[in-house]
Amino acid sequence: MKLKSVSTLALAMLAFGAPAAARDLTSIKKSGTLVVATEPTYPPFTYTQGKKIVGFEAELAELLAKQLGVKVEWKSSSFDTLLIGLGQGRYDMVIASHGITPERQKAVDFSNPHYCSGGVLVSKPGGPKTLADMKGKKLAVQLGTTYATRARSLPGLGNIQTYPNNTDALQALMAGRTDAYLTDRFVALEARKKTGGKLQIGALVFQEKIGIAFQKDNKSLTSAVNAALKKVQADGSYKKLSEKYFGEDIRCH
Ligand code: ARG
Repeated sequence: MKLKSVSTLALAMLAFGAPAAARDLTSIKKSGTLVVATEPTYPPFTYTQGKKIVGFEAELAELLAKQLGVKVEWKSSSFDTLLIGLGQGRYDMVIASHGITPERQKAVDFSNPHYCSGGVLVSKPGGPKTLADMKGKKLAVQLGTTYATRARSLPGLGNIQTYPNNTDALQALMAGRTDAYLTDRFVALEARKKTGGKLQIGALVFQEKIGIAFQKDNKSLTSAVNAALKKVQADGSYKKLSEKYFGEDIRCH
């Protein structure tokens, strides 16, 4: 089971054909735009307001692009295809709350973590709160996420249902088609807020460091974005943005 999941991304990248070379920092600067992809069903990190992609990561990407002296051109795609598209050279970078994992690091390079968080169990009041409560219960996860991978390796989680995106998984939970949803702690807090408290947040199941993904060996862009991240974390703009969405600074310590 574990081995199978380890090779999935690398296999998918092979199946989708030879990678196209990434644009380096010089050509990005020359074009004036940084092509950034995300999956915008993941509030408060990335979501849509009309046609606009907004949220903490959307605004952070724009802050970083500003440091590089370019504008962001947004692309959206389903979460499970983002890193494949990156490998094909469709985007310069992907900001979609990717946990930095050894498996993904075989296929892409990551920035220094832009925030730290973890996976929690979300359920309706009275529903499961801990892994022990999950015996015989149904668990929802989003396709291609670290939650999906972890759920498969955690003891006692037999009945796993995979949803293409966060919106569908939350709807399944609200409609009682699943007993719990394993997702990001801040995504869970946002969902609880939006449902007027009709959800409860249970145990933190694991922690993760989240990073921005680049095509492997696009060193000029990766280091420029790392420098930009360092700058916005030092000048107060990251803190201000984080407090706007979370009421706290969510950088890794
Ligand atoms: N943090 C999780 C992961 O690394 C989930 C990210 C889901 N992101 C999204 N935009 N739906 O896989």
